[in-house]
Amino acid sequence: MSSPVPASPAAPHRADLVVFGGTGDLAMRKLIPALYHCDRDGLLAPETRIIAMSRGGLADSDFRGKVDAEVRGAVPVEDPQVWARFLGRLHHITVDVSAEGGHAAHPGWGELAALLSGHEDRDRIFYLASPPMTFGPFCRDARAAGVVTPRSRVVLEKPIGRDLLSAQRINDEVGEIFAEPQTYRIDHYLGKETVQNLLVLRFANAFLEPVWNSLWIDHVQISVTETVGTPGRRGYYDHAGALRDMVQNHLLQLLCLVAMEPPARNDRESIRDEKVKVLQALRPISGTEADRFTVRGQYTEGPGMPGYLDEPASTPPTAASRRVETFAAIRAEVRNWRWAGVPFYLRTGKRLPTRRSEIVVQFKDVPHSIFPGGSPNRLVLRLQPSEGIHLHLMAKEPGTGEVALRPVPLSLDFASAFASRVPDAYERLLLDVMAGNPTLFMRRDEVEAAWRWIDPILATWEASGMPPEPYPAGSAGPASAHELLARSGRAWHEEETA
Ligand code: BG6
Repeated sequence: MSSPVPASPAAPHRADLVVFGGTGDLAMRKLIPALYHCDRDGLLAPETRIIAMSRGGLADSDFRGKVDAEVRGAVPVEDPQVWARFLGRLHHITVDVSAEGGHAAHPGWGELAALLSGHEDRDRIFYLASPPMTFGPFCRDARAAGVVTPRSRVVLEKPIGRDLLSAQRINDEVGEIFAEPQTYRIDHYLGKETVQNLLVLRFANAFLEPVWNSLWIDHVQISVTETVGTPGRRGYYDHAGALRDMVQNHLLQLLCLVAMEPPARNDRESIRDEKVKVLQALRPISGTEADRFTVRGQYTEGPGMPGYLDEPASTPPTAASRRVETFAAIRAEVRNWRWAGVPFYLRTGKRLPTRRSEIVVQFKDVPHSIFPGGSPNRLVLRLQPSEGIHLHLMAKEPGTGEVALRPVPLSLDFASAFASRVPDAYERLLLDVMAGNPTLFMRRDEVEAAWRWIDPILATWEASGMPPEPYPAGSAGPASAHELLARSGRAWHEEETA
């Protein structure tokens, strides 16, 4: 059986990976640990270098010391020599990029050019782990500094913009320097093992396809609940909110993979072509429909936890802080033959009771039941906390008395089934960028189609002038999110375990 996603090549590509925002939260928590794991597993070429760019004013040795102090404890370092080899790959360049651009004259660009010079034959990756308004200026400065080669690629972190217009502007600006095939828009959810397995499950097993439609499926839930709040993130979060931070990208990408038609080929464009069609088929939601089909909430103080407005932050809350949603739920619909009438319920929120990401496909009840008791008929694809697939069936309770039914899961837990470590999503995606495989990255038209659907919801929320519905930190979210399903006799899937 071949994977629908090409495996990363056995012989690693020689690459220079330049991370802008290289000492920031994402780099230190996700990118550097992921690259260390790749190195440890022999997946980085000996020559590959990691060049962090930041305003930090660090020498290479300072940066290595920082990584040693902050990352070493968070990754398994079995062999100190491998760790030392990894630290040896790290460099730091001090540079600034302002929203206006024109900073190519900053001495850091010259240092970068000197460091990269003579290595034009390597893949050169510019990973922009920085706010979206810096993407265009960074690309212009990089070109002005003469460091963009034909073998260069750029990786853009989400969210790309804050609405369709700003996303188009960013894509245009980046597009002046990097062609679309050189542009990798990352959504780390696409690198998660279960997400890739969803494609295998759907397109490498014949039995699902005949029932994967509105005749058999009652509804789908896509739920990403988090226990964390937003301490220290107000600057970003006040202007993002759950809809921009999670739904526009992670949740809609999951929806696409559940709802897409089987692609004709397993190549870089076919899967993305099918995903775009799903986004284009989403029923627009605005005005009174937004009131009926969407819910937004903001957490308030809960047991031992501050409310959103009282989270530690460098600045006091503003009007934007009071308006921003930390929870969003939406009843979406895909208007095509396969899915007509099947609700797709999307939900995400901070400071909820459990950290769990899952896709729940709820099949319809049997047409005529000869047993007492309902049936779960449910397929759960779990992305977090432990990646796996669980098919909830009805079974007979053992015993000699009356037939009694009990739901039981048929469970596949990836970590135990394959007795191997499940790699972090960033490992897979970083290797794909280095190998030049964009299949698991978002194309420009995908990102823009997602914004086209999100924009009217945002506009309706903004126009309403109403604050989000409060929910206590640690609770199950705003009451309206439960009513969204209860209106049609449904409920969110809340089981603790598989
Ligand atoms: C990020 C969001 O993209 O995803 C965060 O900006 C969120 O707000 C995170 O916490 C969740 O990722 P994961 O992999 O922990 O589910």
